[in-house]
Amino acid sequence: MILHTKSLAAFAIAAFSMAHSNPAAAVVRIQKTPFGTTADGKLVDLYVMTTSRGVEAAITNYGGTVVRLKVPDRSGKIADVALGFDDLKGYLQTEPYFGALIGRYANRIAKGHFKLDGKDYQVPVNDGANALHGGLKGFDKVIWSAKTSSGPKGGALELIYLSKNGEEGYPGNLTAKVVYTLTDSGEMRIDYTATTDKDTVINLTNHSYFNLAGAGSGDILKHQVRLYASRYTPVDSGLIPTGELRSVKGTPFDFLQAHEVGERIGANDEQLKLGKGYDHNWVLNSDSGTLAKAAEIYEPTSGRVLEVWTTQPGIQFYTGNFLDGTLVGKGGHKYAFRNGLALETQHFPDSPNQPTFPGVVLKPNQTYHQVTVWKFSTR
Ligand code: GLA
Repeated sequence: MILHTKSLAAFAIAAFSMAHSNPAAAVVRIQKTPFGTTADGKLVDLYVMTTSRGVEAAITNYGGTVVRLKVPDRSGKIADVALGFDDLKGYLQTEPYFGALIGRYANRIAKGHFKLDGKDYQVPVNDGANALHGGLKGFDKVIWSAKTSSGPKGGALELIYLSKNGEEGYPGNLTAKVVYTLTDSGEMRIDYTATTDKDTVINLTNHSYFNLAGAGSGDILKHQVRLYASRYTPVDSGLIPTGELRSVKGTPFDFLQAHEVGERIGANDEQLKLGKGYDHNWVLNSDSGTLAKAAEIYEPTSGRVLEVWTTQPGIQFYTGNFLDGTLVGKGGHKYAFRNGLALETQHFPDSPNQPTFPGVVLKPNQTYHQVTVWKFSTR
C-alpha cells in the first residue's frame, strides 16, 4: 500500500489527538532492556514504561526497584524525581534501599525476635540491635520473575518472588506478587499480594526516595508536606515504637495542614532528636483496608504534587537523615543529607511484638493484600 506523506502525517496526528481526547485509547508502552549482571552472574532487566505525555517509570526486576520516575513540572518540563543509580552496579553496593521493594518485614523488629504460635523466631539483626527491612538479603536484593502487559488501563509489570520457608529466618513458603501499573494520566499503582503455607508475619512496602524538584537537585526541606494522621508512634533510641499512639497536636509531627519539611525539623523535640529528623510511623486516620489519601507533597519551584494513597494503616515519613553525600547517583549527582524523602506505606514497625498494633500475621488460608498509589500532578 502506498500512502502519501501528507495523509500519513494526518493519520499520525489523528491517532495522537484520539489518544489525548480519549484516555481509554491511550497506550502505555513498555520496553525491556538489559540492566546488568549480579555478582553470581545472573542477568537482570530494566522495564521502561512510557505514557503518551512522556511520563516514564523504569523498574528493574532486581529488588523490584523503581529506578526512574520522570514526571512533568507545571510548564511541562520533565524531570526524574526518584533517587537511584544509572546501572545495576549502583544497587549492588551497600545503599539505603533506593526505590526497592521491601520484605518480608518492612521497617524494624526489635532485636530481630518475635513469637508466633508459641514458637520463638530469630531473624538477622542488621540495624544496631534490631532487624530492618527484611534482613541481610531481603526482597530488595533478590531477582523477581517478571511479566509485562499493556492495555487500556495502562502498562503493567508483574513481579513474582517465592521466598522459601526459613529464608532470612521467617517461617513458611511465601509467594509474593507485586504489580506496578502506570496509567496514561501518570498514576503509579502498586498492588501487593502474598500467600503462605505456614503462619508467618508480613509487611511489604516500596522504599522510593522522592525529590520533586528533581533527584540530585539538593535537599527536600522546602517541600510542603501533608500527612492525614492525627497520631504517630513515638520511638526509643533504636527507633523501635514504645507502643504509645501519641497525638500530633501542638508538635512538629502535626502535618494535618501543610508544613515545609524544614520548618520544624530542627525543633527542640526529643522524638526529632531520636530520629535525627523525621523517621517515624504516622497512624493514618483512614480505615485500614480502604484506599485513602495518606500524604500530599508539594514542591513550589516546579509545582509538582505527589499524592500517596494507600490501604495500609501507617506511613513511615523519612527525611533522608542517613544520606551523607558518599553515594553517587544518577548523572553523577551526590545524594547529601536530606536530599530525598521516603513515604513508606506500611503496618507499624515492630508489630509482631506489639499486641496493641494492627496484626501482621498471615495464615495459609488468607491472602495478604495492600495497594498504594502515587498520583502525580502540578499546580
Ligand atoms: C527506613 C528507616 C530509616 C532508614 C531507612 C534506610 O526509612 O526508618 O531509619 O533505615 O529506611 O536508610
